[in-house]
Amino acid sequence: MTNNYLADRLPETLPADPMHWAAAWLASATNNNIQRNPNSMTLVSVGPNAAPSARIVLCKAFEADPGYVVMYTNYESQKCLEIEQNSNVYVLFHWDSMGRQIRIGGTAIRSPATESDAYFASRDGGSQLGAWGSDQSRAIESHAALVRQIRDRAAEQGVALADAHGTRVAEDAAAISRPPYWGGMRIWASSIELWIEGKDRIHDRALWTRKLTPNTAEGFDFSAWTGTRLQP
Ligand SMILES: Cc1cc2nc3c(=O)[nH]c(=O)nc-3n(C[C@H](O)[C@H](O)[C@H](O)COP(=O)(O)O)c2cc1C
Repeated sequence: MTNNYLADRLPETLPADPMHWAAAWLASATNNNIQRNPNSMTLVSVGPNAAPSARIVLCKAFEADPGYVVMYTNYESQKCLEIEQNSNVYVLFHWDSMGRQIRIGGTAIRSPATESDAYFASRDGGSQLGAWGSDQSRAIESHAALVRQIRDRAAEQGVALADAHGTRVAEDAAAISRPPYWGGMRIWASSIELWIEGKDRIHDRALWTRKLTPNTAEGFDFSAWTGTRLQP
């Protein structure tokens, strides 16, 4: 049986593989180029005193099996400092023109260094330099100071710039290595809700949960998903 991932309702018997449904929705949003950054998602973390904070990040991989999403960031940013203290996070995708929303609750852990190296190497030189140049989430006195900092750090990396004041890396610049404080975060799903917009606000919703158990390797063992239909 082929799954009709883009039907306007979830099957009456809920599927056992909600992450595959979510991956298919993301693939459809991406392949149809339905908006700028169709892979953007809101990432919610929890700070001191249980205060939530949220920001948009880009989903760079959606691994339906074993069930995590990957984003890249500065490990010393506010979000990562919060995650170090409390690894419970939430991510939210919304594609208005598709009438679909995905909510994923889970646990964030750093990606293996080799994976972050490979992704960093695939980025363009300007973005690589940006990762070296910005102490994400920290205060700085001015934009001019930020530009100076980027230039200084480029010089420290031995990277020639093609423009006088920007981050455009010269064609013949040496390869830039990944900053030790920058890399991937894997968000392992322990809950996922799929939401499809319906007529007269009779939306279709279902929530699946599973148990994650940390394993000795870099990740989690997990139980099967259990799905429940929810009222809209
Ligand atoms: C469309 C869009 C995509 C973004 N993608 C990322 C991203 O992939 N990684 C990242 O660290 N910040 C990304 N940002 C910036 C974040 O929203 C945020 O400003 C930054 O990560 C600092 O957040 P924090 O201070 O809460 O840690 C993106 C912002 C937008 C609007």
